[in-house]
Amino acid sequence: MLYPKITKTAKALPKKRVTNHDLAQFLETSDEWITQRTGIKERRISVTESVASLSVEVAKKLSQDIDVTTIDLIIVATMSADYSTPSVACVVQESVGAVNAMCFDVNAACSGFVYALSIAEKYLSHPSYQTALVIGTDVMSHLVDWSDRQTAVLFGDGSGGVLIEKTSSQQSFLAESIHSDGKRHQALFGHVIARDNRFRQIGDTHPFLVMNGKQIFDFAMRDVSKNMLELLLSHSIATEDIDYVLAHQANFRILEALAKKTNISSDKFLSNVDRFGNTSAASIPLLLDDAVKTGVIPLSGESLCMLTGYGAGLTWGSLLIKL
Ligand code: ACO
Repeated sequence: MLYPKITKTAKALPKKRVTNHDLAQFLETSDEWITQRTGIKERRISVTESVASLSVEVAKKLSQDIDVTTIDLIIVATMSADYSTPSVACVVQESVGAVNAMCFDVNAACSGFVYALSIAEKYLSHPSYQTALVIGTDVMSHLVDWSDRQTAVLFGDGSGGVLIEKTSSQQSFLAESIHSDGKRHQALFGHVIARDNRFRQIGDTHPFLVMNGKQIFDFAMRDVSKNMLELLLSHSIATEDIDYVLAHQANFRILEALAKKTNISSDKFLSNVDRFGNTSAASIPLLLDDAVKTGVIPLSGESLCMLTGYGAGLTWGSLLIKL
C-alpha cells in the first residue's frame, strides 16, 4: 500500500520589500514598536503580482518535473482571491496544463493551508487520486486599511505550496485535529462589499479588515495551545518527540507564548515572520519551503512535524506529519 507524501515545496514572493521604517513614513508607528510587539522587520507587498500570478508561479515550480496530466487535484487556500469566481485553482490549472485535475479554493483564512492539506490527504486516500498540488496564497495588502496602524503593520503578501504524491510505503500524515467556531466570526473579518442595486441602498460596509487584536491573541493562547497538546496526548506522543513546529506566523510573541504553553522547546518553532510578516494562508508553506531549501527538513520522512494554523472564522487546527 502506498501513502500520500509531500515530495516537493515551492514559494513565490512579490519583489517589493517594505520595511518597518518605510511604514513609519506614512503611519504613526516605529520599527521599535512593531519589532517588540510582533518580531516583524519587513514584508513583501504586491505591486504587480496577484493571488493568481503568485499561485501560478508556485504551481509551475512544483510541477516542472512531472507529467502535468497526472495531477488529479489542485487546491488553493486563500481569503484574498482576485475574483469571487472562478477559483484561483482553475486559473492555476489552465496555466500549468493540468487538464485532468479537479480544482477548487478553500477559505479558512490563516488556517487555510492546514485545512487544504487535510482535504487533499482525504482525497488521496481514495484509489482515484494519486497526485495533488496544495497551495496557500494571500495578498493581504489588498484587504488592509493602509491608514490603520493596528492592522497594516502586521501583514504581508506571498505564496507557498507543496506537491503531494502517493509514493510512500510509510504513513506520512499521522494525525490531525481541526476546529471552527463561527460564534467568534466577528473577531476578525473583512472586505464586505455591499453594493447598491435597484432594491437596496448601500448600508454600513467594511471594505477593510477589522480585527480585535486582543481576542485573537487570547484565542491563540487558549484554543490553539490546547489543540496542539490534545493532539499529542491523544496519540501518546511526548512533546520531546516533536522535531519541528511549523505554526502560522502571526507574530513572534504568539510563537514564543505557544512554546511556553505547550512546553515544546522554542528552538523547535521555526519562524520567518521577521522577513515576511503575517502572510495568512501562505505562512506555513513559506516556512516549510524555507526549511526544505536550507536542509533543516530534507523531506526524507524522518522529521516529526506539527503544522498548526489559526485564524479568522475562527478556525484552527494541527496536523502531525512525518516530513
Ligand atoms: N504602532 C505604534 N503604536 C501602535 C500600533 C502601531 N502599529 N498599533 C497600536 N498601537 C498603540 C495602540 O494605539 C495603543 O496605544 P494606547 O496605549 O495609547 O492606547 C498601544 O499601542 C498598545 O496597543 P495594544 O493593542 O494594547 O497593543 P498590544 O500589546 O495588544 O499589541 C497586537 C497589539 C500586536 C495586535 C497584539 O494584540 C497581537 O499580537 N494580537 C494578535 C493579532 C494578530 O496577530 N492578528 C493577525 C491576524 S489574525 C491571525 O493571523 C490569526
